[in-house]
Amino acid sequence: MSIVDSLRLVGSPETNRVMKGELIRLAGRGLGRRPAQPDRAGSGALIYPFDAELAYLAVRYHRTATRVLWDLYTSRAGRLEPLYDELHRDVRNDGRAWLWNRAAISVQARNVGAFPAGSRQIVGTVKNAILDGARAHSIELRVDPHNPDIELVVRMHDDALTVSIDLAGASLSRRGYRIEGGRAPLREHLAAVLCMLARHDPRRELVLDPMCGSGTICIEAALMARGAPLWPAGRAPAMLRMPLFHHLAGDAGHSGPLFADTEPLVIGNDIDSGACRNARDNAASAGLTGAISWQVGHFRDLSRDRIARLVRAEKLQNGLILCNPPYGQRLGDKQLGPLYRDLSRWCGQFRGWRAAFLIGNPAWDQWFGRRVRIRKTLRNGPIRVNFCLYDL
Ligand SMILES: C[S@@+](CC[C@H](N)C(=O)[O-])C[C@H]1O[C@@H](n2cnc3c(N)ncnc32)[C@H](O)[C@@H]1O
Repeated sequence: MSIVDSLRLVGSPETNRVMKGELIRLAGRGLGRRPAQPDRAGSGALIYPFDAELAYLAVRYHRTATRVLWDLYTSRAGRLEPLYDELHRDVRNDGRAWLWNRAAISVQARNVGAFPAGSRQIVGTVKNAILDGARAHSIELRVDPHNPDIELVVRMHDDALTVSIDLAGASLSRRGYRIEGGRAPLREHLAAVLCMLARHDPRRELVLDPMCGSGTICIEAALMARGAPLWPAGRAPAMLRMPLFHHLAGDAGHSGPLFADTEPLVIGNDIDSGACRNARDNAASAGLTGAISWQVGHFRDLSRDRIARLVRAEKLQNGLILCNPPYGQRLGDKQLGPLYRDLSRWCGQFRGWRAAFLIGNPAWDQWFGRRVRIRKTLRNGPIRVNFCLYDL
């Protein structure tokens, strides 16, 4: 085992560039500086030198990552006994004050299938080594899997086990604003990934989701434009329970939206009035009452003029259509092809705009029929999907 000191941003596969770009944007505004160049760990994790301010900024605002971890120790031990010995020694020798007396810890193992012991044994070994190592600092810890102060995660990366603290204490993708998910809601961080991949510019571009379902894309576009915190009043990330980070809590520069002066124009539409109601409720619970215009109907009834009237703009120069259309599980391929074709025809009226879609059906290219400018493969849970961007 050895002591390491890294900040790890974990997201979905193939999202390293957007995670990096988002952190640069946030740090420029929130800290007035640029983060160090990260190392990549696969296609969905970035590693920076640990920096408490940057970590707190990421935990509070980073919308495309799902976890923000502080990597503390790493080991290439191939068995449990040396794992215990190395970790015990490292915790004993560790000068960082991340532990305190009576702190409650929990340990979870993720992706440790390659280690020649079961995850429960790994968890037990890591827990014991940390409890015993802390005693060398005269610190007595408690174990509380349900209500921990410090949530430790053991993961396997490149044949090494890494012990980290989950600084948010939960998946950042679950923002907490979703009251009602609808039938096929997009995971929140993935909606933010779409905004970043499409390079949405909220100062110049309206966002329109013609098939918005529970409204995730519209809500994330509006929140991201404002640099809104992920934590509503009354909820705080786990890292603020650690005395080591208490000084960050009062930092005024990190409390409200980072781009509070941005007023994004966002319109969501769905043919299903129930879905639209859910979207409106979800937006209200995200603090966006009145900020997004919600429409019910077939997308073909949304003309460019009608959209201009909705946002009270005489002329709309720039817009971004951003959407994940039905993939076909419920509609069946027979209806889906014509739906994609109609969508392409409807897009034709938005000359000068851009359109980006998250697609999970191979029939898309044939029926949508436009020349794609950017295509990128992503994962929506277990499903392989394509992000496709078009100039209209
Ligand atoms: C995959 S879901 C969108 C999920 C959404 N992004 C979310 O996070 O909840 C597709 C949506 O398209 C809507 N839809 C299907 N055909 C439509 C049409 N012709 N006009 C408008 N909406 C339509 C469905 O009602 C459904 O809510």
